[in-house]
This record gives sequence, C-alpha cells and structure tokens, in this order.
Amino acid sequence: MSELNKIALKILSSGKGILAADESNGTMTKRLDSVNVPSNPENRLLFRETLFSANGMKDFIGGVILYDETINQISNSKKTIPELISTTGAVPGIKVDTGAKVLAGSTEEKITEGLDGLRERLKLYYKLGARFTKWRGVYNISDKYPSKLSLHSNAHALARYSALVQECGMVPIVEPEVLMDGSHSAEACLKKTSEVINKCFEELIIHKIDLTGIILKPNMILPGTTSNKKIPSDEIAKLTLKCLKENVPSDVPGIAFLSGGQTEIEATENLNLINKYNDTNFIMTYSYGRALQQSALKFWSKDIKNIKGTQKVFDHRANMCSLATQGKWSAELETK
Ligand code: 13P
Repeated sequence: MSELNKIALKILSSGKGILAADESNGTMTKRLDSVNVPSNPENRLLFRETLFSANGMKDFIGGVILYDETINQISNSKKTIPELISTTGAVPGIKVDTGAKVLAGSTEEKITEGLDGLRERLKLYYKLGARFTKWRGVYNISDKYPSKLSLHSNAHALARYSALVQECGMVPIVEPEVLMDGSHSAEACLKKTSEVINKCFEELIIHKIDLTGIILKPNMILPGTTSNKKIPSDEIAKLTLKCLKENVPSDVPGIAFLSGGQTEIEATENLNLINKYNDTNFIMTYSYGRALQQSALKFWSKDIKNIKGTQKVFDHRANMCSLATQGKWSAELETK
C-alpha cells in the first residue's frame, strides 16, 4: 500500500468524511453576510475553530479542507490550525486552486487557475502540516455545455495539479463539479457528468497519476435546480452509482461528494441511499461545505460566543452524514 493510499484511506474510512471549510474570503463573506455577522479574520477563525474543536470531529471527520488564510492562523489554544485538526485525528488539507476565471475561447464557461508557482506553494503547505489538497474545476451544463474546450482544459489542469501534489507527497482531491444550475433533466446530468469524469481520468492517466492516492470529489446526479422533472432520492442514488461505476477506474479508493447547493437533509438522504445500493468497492462519503455547516452557522450567528451550542448543532449534522456513509441514516433520527 502506498503512503498516498494510506492517507486517502485515513481520511475516508471508518464512517468518516471531509469537512470542506475552504471557502475563499469572498465566499465566506457572502456566507457571513447572509447571517449578519461581520466578515473579518477574527470571526472567520472563530467560527471555523468552533467546528474544528467540536467533539464530533474525532468520530465523523477524517479530513478538513482549509483556505490559505486559515492554515496560517493560530487557534485560541495557541496551536496552529493544522495542529488543532491533527489532535482530533483528522488530516489537514488545503485548497490550492486560485479560483475559476473566464475561459478564453468560450467566455460563458470557466477555467480554474493556480498552476503557476504551485510546486513552491505546495512545499510550504506541506511544511504547515497539509497532507491533502483540493482543486475544483467547474462546468456549466446545457445543450451546448460543457464545451469540448472546457472538458479538455479543466481536465488537463486537474491532472497537472494532481501530478504536482503527488510529487510533493500529498493526496489530491480531484473535484470536477458539474453545476446544478439549469433546467436540465437528471439524465442530461448523467450524460454530461460522465463525459466530464471520463475526460478527467483520461488526463490523469496521461499524467501518470497514482490513482490509489487520489480522492474523487464529484457532484451527485441530479436534475437542474429549475427542472420540472424532479426525481426521487432512490433514482438519484442509482443514477449516481451508474455514472461512477461506468467512469471511475477501480484503483480509486474513494469518492467524497460535494453538496453543491442541496439542503443538508437532501445531501444526507441521497448519500445514505447511495451507500445502501453501493455495489462497488469505492468508499462513498461526504466532502460537504454547506451541507455540514449551514445549521451550525445559523445557530452561531445568533450568539457567536455560544461555542458549545454551535458545536452541538455541528456534531449532529456530522453524525447524520456519517450514518449516511453506512446506509444507516433515517429521517426520524433528525429529530431525536
Ligand atoms: P459544498 O458542499 O457547499 O458544495 O462545498 C463543497 C466544496 O468544497 C465546493 O468546492
């Protein structure tokens, strides 16, 4: 078993998943604005540190994705943030892309930037304690999108990123996100997501990536947010499994879904059914941002000094997600 495979399994195994707390300052400001809390480095740290020191970390969180600001901050207990995370048994990770920009040649689409100087930045992050990383490629979906250009350029960037990350001894999260925006059907999402994932693995293989040492972070197969063809969770789970079975090489140890705008309950219920029906060898878990943090953020915003209360809300959400990785979640458990 390679070192990278060991790290990936440590993050994903035993009913654990990933807490994606890597919102850029811009995105975090939007989240804090939505609950009327001023966005400054102190408040961003306070909320995140509250989660990172919650009891639930030990049992439910195998890895935390940080943003550059946070990985350089010092906790109240005078530990660095990676140290604080490591004491819970979770692995510290870091978002290393620098965001999605307009794609020249197809200006309604985006290409993720951040490859320039990446090798040097990775060395610094490794020294700070990071052992895995994230890069998100983002894809529009419609009759004409994603274009061939977007498919090619984002997959190429994800592969070049992965090669540099593995060279530095860290596990790359490969995140190709097909957005939920649009009126497309779930079948269209299946078709387009399959093309996206397929192209990513084509490039990862060309770039000689050790597939046992990556984590795939895809979207689930869902109808678009404005689609009039809603489908039951059962169907979502089956289509998602079909997509992954047909397009992900069996060497990949695990898949950690993004929540992508689903509610907390939707993201939990869908993951639960994916695991109930999972007939693959892939670990299927979560790498949720909003679907792990939304209720906790709302609760915290009412009294940002109420650390214990906020942690209780977070622990519950993380517990529900963990049960979903074992197919043991049910709606009744939400109110217990
Ligand atoms: P969401 O779960 O809120 O989609 O965030 C996950 C993530 O890391 C997006 O890049």
